[in-house]
Amino acid sequence: MTAALLKPQLLDLHPAAADMERLVREGLRRSPRQLPAWFLYDAEGSRLFEAICCQPEYTLTATETALLETEAPAMAAAMGPGVLVEFGAGSARKVSPLLRALGRPAYVALDISADHLRSACRDLQGRHPGVPVLGICCDYTGLEQLPDHPLLEQRNRLGFFPGSSLGNFNRAEAVGLLRQFARLLGPGGQLLIGIDQPKDVRRLEAAYDDRAGLSAAFALNLLQRLNRDLGGDFDPAAFRYRARWQPESQRIEMALVSQRDHWVNVAGERWPFAEGEPLITEHSAKYDPAAFEALAAQAGWLARARWSDPAGDLSVHLLGQADSEAKEPQADEQR
Ligand code: AVI
Repeated sequence: MTAALLKPQLLDLHPAAADMERLVREGLRRSPRQLPAWFLYDAEGSRLFEAICCQPEYTLTATETALLETEAPAMAAAMGPGVLVEFGAGSARKVSPLLRALGRPAYVALDISADHLRSACRDLQGRHPGVPVLGICCDYTGLEQLPDHPLLEQRNRLGFFPGSSLGNFNRAEAVGLLRQFARLLGPGGQLLIGIDQPKDVRRLEAAYDDRAGLSAAFALNLLQRLNRDLGGDFDPAAFRYRARWQPESQRIEMALVSQRDHWVNVAGERWPFAEGEPLITEHSAKYDPAAFEALAAQAGWLARARWSDPAGDLSVHLLGQADSEAKEPQADEQR
């Protein structure tokens, strides 16, 4: 008897237009102006990001993919069986070696870009015909709880957050997000997370401003998205892309810098942009392994294992939740 062919299921929890407008207004009122990074990922933004990942200057994806391919059996052995929940799944290709290494896995992909998620889940199902797959289109930073679904009733939920996407959040947001992942994954949940390390500044700045111009196109696409989805009238030609390393915060800042004084309408309001004023599209913070593990500890995660590529460009960490009993001081320790 042949096994029934599985089909990916999809849930659409994308933020409503009114919430997007509110977030844009809040972001444009900040000084300097900055929008949540997920606004970059409409269908075209997701396509451009995939292309960035193949640029020779942006080595993060190839390095992490190779590390996952080599170490997946050890990672799977350390995690044990369970359902893999990937936050910001993108093309959902990095998870394949883990799905092969885990016994009887199931896979849940969360991503903000509905079209991209649909095709990523379809392709993944083709590569792993026997694995139950669920795609959830959502802003994972705003998810209060995972939806009720049989795949998510399994006790051992293994979070997967590759690509150093944690670096796209500031420190306080990163700690908040790691806490939220702990809540979403539940007691006993684990998190496998990829973190890019600080490295030569010229190398980093080139990675975020590639010669083919894809990083610039990715940032400028944000303006087209705001024009299309939120009634904007941005003139992309009035902005220039800039990526620079900020040593004090150990992060790359990516921004669109206004080239002249002008006004823009978007999200129901009119906004002045001065010449030289940046609209920050993203930050990408880098952490060495010890700094990252200290950050994770602030969110209640314990470092259980760590893998690095031979050059030490990035690390993949396995985190477990601090045992709640262990956290309670014993009576004799309180004295
Ligand atoms: C998704 N994220 C981890 C990328 C990064 O490296 O910070 C986003 C990116 N933006 C431009 N290039 C890459």
